[in-house]
Amino acid sequence: MAFPEAFLDELVSRNDIADVVGTYVHLTKKSGSNMFGLCPFHSEKTPSFSVSQDKQIYHCFGCGKGGGVVNFIMEIENLSYPDAVQILAKRSGMTVPDDRVSKETQSRRARLFELNSDAARFFYTVLLSPQGAEAKKYIVRRGITKAMVTRFGLGAAPDSWNALYDAMTEKGYTKQELLDAGLVKQSRKDAQSVYDAFRNRLMFPVIDVRGSIIGFSGRILGDGEPKYLNSPDTVVFDKSRNLFALNLAKKSKAGILLLTEGNIDVVALHQAGFDCAVASLGTSLTEEQVRLMSRYTQNVTIAYDTDEAGMKASQRAIGILEKAGLGVRVLRMQGAKDPDEFIRKFGSDAFSLLLERSEHHVDYRLQAIKTKYDINNNDEKVKYIKEAISILSSISNLVEREVYCRKVSELVGISYDAITNEIAKIKKQKKQLGNSAQETREMINHATKKYKTKKLHYENSNSAIAEQGIIRLLLNDVELFKLLEYYSFSRDEFTVPFLAKTYDIILKRKNMNIGTSPASILTELDSEEATQLLSFMNYNENLKREEALVAYINRIRKEKLVFIKNNVNTTESDIIDNALKLALEKQNTISKYDKDLNSKKYRDQSGCGG
Ligand code: UTP
Ligand code: MN
Repeated sequence: MAFPEAFLDELVSRNDIADVVGTYVHLTKKSGSNMFGLCPFHSEKTPSFSVSQDKQIYHCFGCGKGGGVVNFIMEIENLSYPDAVQILAKRSGMTVPDDRVSKETQSRRARLFELNSDAARFFYTVLLSPQGAEAKKYIVRRGITKAMVTRFGLGAAPDSWNALYDAMTEKGYTKQELLDAGLVKQSRKDAQSVYDAFRNRLMFPVIDVRGSIIGFSGRILGDGEPKYLNSPDTVVFDKSRNLFALNLAKKSKAGILLLTEGNIDVVALHQAGFDCAVASLGTSLTEEQVRLMSRYTQNVTIAYDTDEAGMKASQRAIGILEKAGLGVRVLRMQGAKDPDEFIRKFGSDAFSLLLERSEHHVDYRLQAIKTKYDINNNDEKVKYIKEAISILSSISNLVEREVYCRKVSELVGISYDAITNEIAKIKKQKKQLGNSAQETREMINHATKKYKTKKLHYENSNSAIAEQGIIRLLLNDVELFKLLEYYSFSRDEFTVPFLAKTYDIILKRKNMNIGTSPASILTELDSEEATQLLSFMNYNENLKREEALVAYINRIRKEKLVFIKNNVNTTESDIIDNALKLALEKQNTISKYDKDLNSKKYRDQSGCGG
């Protein structure tokens, strides 16, 4: 993403964040310099979305989203970084200096969007015409109402090899454009001729969150193979980054997204009033799709098919959703193979009940492994316990973990203590505990409680919190680099790569004298990184900046030592000796700091007195 820095700086300064955000969100000024409004990225009733004009950043205290003006446009318009830059440049009358977002690509994309939307109109018209009689019958057979046909823009591909081709070329689209859109295919026999890709199918347009038609999914009318035909990936269609019906579900007030496997499931659910249903376009769920969902919700309920494949897919989806920090529940349907069939058989009230009773994913996973093993057989029981313990140890909420440990303990007749001991062993392997000075601990605990985001999994969170602190302090006062130097702090002491990277960026910008405001740093981060950065930016250390900085260095070094001690064998006494020597040295440095901190020495040197 190498836009010239001077260009980005100007772009940011010409696009005041309050103006830009103000066109999407009603902002009101409260006390202080921050403005508040309802967050556009999650649904809420009281404003927790704040914009700081001083820092030129936004941050939502509800969902944790945040960034600079470029991130905001990326997030709200669902655009890539270069595209967002392009939009802001246009808005402020600037020209993007290089042609990465070439005019040609842009106009090709725009053409494909137009073509897709003309094709959708064509399919819709066919559905209403006599040619669409068979498709109409099928729609009735599946119990889909007229209202849903309109809401989803359903249509019919006629039973013809060239109807779409003829209609679109008549409108001025070229053969190449139709090929690029995946709407026609190259004939194998004759290099010159092409044929319609979708024939005699019920057509579902796939619409992205901005409302553009990016591709199609066509179902065969009745039995036959392939059941669904999807547009291939094109310059505007990437199955792994889109979800069917998210354009509708993103507006739902349900507060969750309901993840299903099938297009028809989605239509049936919306028809029954569950307007939060989406489907993953016939691919297995991807991380990009999950990231996309997390823009609109914190909670996803999985309603996959009830067959073996659906259960496997659920397990996989749980993993990906959990990793993204989303709350996951799983619907357990009985007596029907998928939501569409369930609603047809038992009605929408019954589905509502299912939704209310959807299980916490731990229940679901424990249940799922239970069906794998016969726990009356001792060997299998051991295997079951092992898998169960691994699931239990991944639960971070202590109360929750206790509840599930008790459940498993009752089920297999093994004492609660034995189970928790095993979990403790696993945990110990994963985590090193530090014992540090009381005041640092308190400060850090406080910061942790307030700013630990669910999405971050640090190897050593004590060190990570201190590292965040250093970045935060530097962003407030770059002169603190001098103090870091004084304590010979090196960037390699960061254990979190993202924080080391941010450190490098700040230092680079300071050395080049090109501005180190949080907003300018954010232009060099992607939106996920920006969100991470923002999540810990607003904390105020109670200590003086210099004191806080040294406390953080101290903490990072202590954590490192604890790590070294915990990770060497007693036989390797050399390493331990070295570690202890190092500890003593640092201890001396720290006592020296105690003396120096308030003395003139450092202040004179650094010029950044309290
Ligand atoms: P299902 O076979 O479960 O489809 O496939 P469904 O939605 O329940 O369809 P009906 O009820 O039989 O009409 C789930 C999804 O997998 C993709 C489609 O997106 C479908 O909605 N799929 C399925 C394909 O892409 N190709 C296929 O051949 C089959
Ligand atoms: Mn189905």
